[in-house]
Amino acid sequence: MLARATTHALVGLEARPVEVEAHLQRGVPAFAIVGLPDKACQEAKERVRSGITSAELEWPLRRITVNLAPAGLRKEGSGFDLPIALAVLAASHQIPAARLALHAALGELALDGRVRPVPGALVAAEAARRAGLDRLICPPESAREAALAGIEPVPVEHLTEACAYLRGVAEPRTVEPQPTSNGSSGPDLSEVRGQERARRALELAAAGRHNLLLAGPPGTGKTMLARRLPGILPALTIEQALEVTRIHSVAGLLPAGRPLVDRPPFRAPHHTASTAAIVGGGIGPRPGEASLAHQGVLFLDELAEFYRPALEALRQPLEDGTISIARVQGQALFPARFVLVGKMNLCPCGGRGDPAAECSCSPQRLAAYRDKLSRALLDRFDLVVQVPRARAVELNGSPGEASAIVRERVEAAAVRLRDPPSLSEPAAALLTRAVDSLPLSGRGRARVARVAGTIAVLAGSGAVAAEHVAEALSYRSPTELGPWT
Ligand SMILES: Nc1ncnc2c1ncn2[C@@H]1O[C@H](COP(=O)(O)OP(=O)(O)OP(=O)(O)O)[C@@H](O)[C@H]1O
Ligand SMILES: [Mg+2]
Ligand SMILES: [Zn+2]
Repeated sequence: MLARATTHALVGLEARPVEVEAHLQRGVPAFAIVGLPDKACQEAKERVRSGITSAELEWPLRRITVNLAPAGLRKEGSGFDLPIALAVLAASHQIPAARLALHAALGELALDGRVRPVPGALVAAEAARRAGLDRLICPPESAREAALAGIEPVPVEHLTEACAYLRGVAEPRTVEPQPTSNGSSGPDLSEVRGQERARRALELAAAGRHNLLLAGPPGTGKTMLARRLPGILPALTIEQALEVTRIHSVAGLLPAGRPLVDRPPFRAPHHTASTAAIVGGGIGPRPGEASLAHQGVLFLDELAEFYRPALEALRQPLEDGTISIARVQGQALFPARFVLVGKMNLCPCGGRGDPAAECSCSPQRLAAYRDKLSRALLDRFDLVVQVPRARAVELNGSPGEASAIVRERVEAAAVRLRDPPSLSEPAAALLTRAVDSLPLSGRGRARVARVAGTIAVLAGSGAVAAEHVAEALSYRSPTELGPWT
């Protein structure tokens, strides 16, 4: 007696098809899972047996062998529970094997037979669809996510519900699509008072996807500004939204009610985060914060407090927008194209640059703080701005421009930047002089030119003028960090 169920194994962002074959033979009752299961997957034995028994189904007193094919692919995690249980039930004629073969299945089993969500339902559903299957049996929490793949989800709360459906005695529950979002969400820029220069830099960062470093004494609105960047980024296209959602799906972070990530994400890892937490790794491997911030904002508050290796690991994605993680099974590639926003004080005690305070840091402590940031990393910040303490008149003044208004300008500029304007002759001459006088690295030069292009486009200009380069250069100037450098 042999029955099959189809499921998927995650390799990075990819779901590879896995055939679950359950073979029942006469002999001493036993239960074995073969085909390179990892520890969590091996433990499926206990959950499947217990789940079937407590669902008042029959545990076949046979020699049961479950084979997960292809054998060369490592099977990680607990999502194989449900397909294994269904294959065993089909092999023992408790559910129709032919009907099961038309479905993919995914889910962990609780000991009482309840079905629990596992990461990666969207990518599994997409892979099932590519394989010509049009229904995915999954936990209710994953149903909306699976529906995004254009497959019909069959949400089941319990193993008995899956059986009732496969026997044809119950119709699958309908899955309502996610309500469309009402435009922007998150905090609004109008709440930030004053700080005109930083607001300008934020708008440039959004329009041209430039990396931004906010430096200054504590409590001047740096964190406030950074949190408002996603709200002025252009809306994601549906392809971008699905790409981001895939990453969050594999990380197991999607809320059941609103799985589609349709706004640019904002990720703010703590400064104690490990390299793997930032760029990804571990079992799976899992995407890191840099990939979770794909198409959105990666905010590093207290930039100088991060582990140096974690910061250095960001250099690759900052250059080419991807992260590759070497694995036994080959390389896993994660997209990681984000706007990096760093925030730091000018010294560990925060007193530097603050007219109302005094710095108590020793030269050694200051040097150590500064050394945390390599030149190479600093070179990748296109926009460096000091955020000074606002004066009382500014803080009591009228509210700033609202995010929606800024976002309109940003969206228009982002469209025009697909075909960036070229440098006028005076602009090119100014840039050439700056290479020696600043000095600027080759990368720095290219980055200044890009920022100048963004400035020109926001100004409605068809070419980059010298004044645009001059403004772009003003954000590179080491003096911007004042007492820092
Ligand atoms: N420009 C501003 N406009 C309005 N409120 C402000 C401004 N600056 C600071 N605040 C108020 O001060 C609080 C702290 O600001 P924020 O957290 O952004 O400071 P910060 O510059 O990030 O400080 P730190 O360097 O300590 O992280 C805000 O929640 C807000 O209430
Ligand atoms: Mg802060
Ligand atoms: Zn200090």
